[in-house]
Amino acid sequence: MIYSRIMGTGSYLPENIVTNKDLEKIMDTNDQWIQDRTGIKQRHMAAEGETTVDMVEQAALRAIEASGIDAAEIDMIILGTTTPDLIFPSSACLLQERLGLPGIAAFDLNAACTSFVYSISVADQFIKSGMAKKILVCGAETLSRALDYEDRTTAVLFADGAGAIVLEASEEPGILSTHIHADGRYAHLLGADVGVSRGFKDSNNGGLKILMNGREVFKMAVRTLGQIVDETLAANNLEKSDIDWLIPHQANLRIIMATAKKLNMPMEKVIVTVDKHGNTSAASVALALDEGVRSGRVKRGDTILLEAFGGGFTWGSALIKY
Ligand code: UT7
Repeated sequence: MIYSRIMGTGSYLPENIVTNKDLEKIMDTNDQWIQDRTGIKQRHMAAEGETTVDMVEQAALRAIEASGIDAAEIDMIILGTTTPDLIFPSSACLLQERLGLPGIAAFDLNAACTSFVYSISVADQFIKSGMAKKILVCGAETLSRALDYEDRTTAVLFADGAGAIVLEASEEPGILSTHIHADGRYAHLLGADVGVSRGFKDSNNGGLKILMNGREVFKMAVRTLGQIVDETLAANNLEKSDIDWLIPHQANLRIIMATAKKLNMPMEKVIVTVDKHGNTSAASVALALDEGVRSGRVKRGDTILLEAFGGGFTWGSALIKY
């Protein structure tokens, strides 16, 4: 049996840190509300001109270095993002050029905040089928470009960053299962109302801004993530106690705590980065995974559960023997 094993992880956060106090100065919000309702204390924002590809290049180089392979061995790049540098070519192609890997397959995958988990799932199918041996899987966003500082319900949440992993075909267990879902009936609850085909607006960044019904998204996220935890455990015939680490999408500490409770997991077994990173959408699980690994908490042989929920709605999980 062929498994996809994580060989190395990497991440990158822009230098510029924006605290809740900084936001208090430019909009009608306060540190107490943001911390109480979301768990966020600060977030990183890309410098002017710094793009998704700039950030993911650094994350990818770190993941490749950690994996100990030669970059030339990579035979596919999948980049999960909702905020590509350009409409086309894909940011994966721009990244491929930066890494000097002409000829290998490269494509973006947009499943909003679930993009990285979806990308892992797609990569796993290519590896299990024998179509690819080593895949660079990334999640990266510059959501700061899609913020509307007139809307305090979203502007305090989203932020920038990038993460990457190298997956390799192996006989040793790695990814045990992935589960991905979508329900387009809820598209109106979380998204942006501009685009190529519908058109852009004559305002900042073409009118690109995140529109979210936070309360409804919150309820659905808690319910759906609870269900996917059950689905993942059942598919692998595992008990809740078999999971060593929960590595969740970092949208809101309250959502993360609800999922941990569902798993009977103490918060010490959950990798939390939302306090420092905010919600980096496609990058968030990748960043949290790298933090878990580099801090020495996630160790070889641990069973880790990755999960995410986002616009679409989309949701998914990956159960992995690290
Ligand atoms: O990553 C993709 C998935 N996204 C998510 O999972 C996000 C899910 N949603 C959430 O995390 C939460 O719903 C939010 C953090 C977005 C909002 O928290 P909430 O507890 O649902 O607050 P709310 O929207 O119900 O608003 C409560 C109050 C309102 O005031 P009133 O109407 O009660 O007077 C808001 O106007 O809090 C007010 N409020 C704020 N106050 C200070 C909303 N945003 C802010 C703010 N600062 N930034």
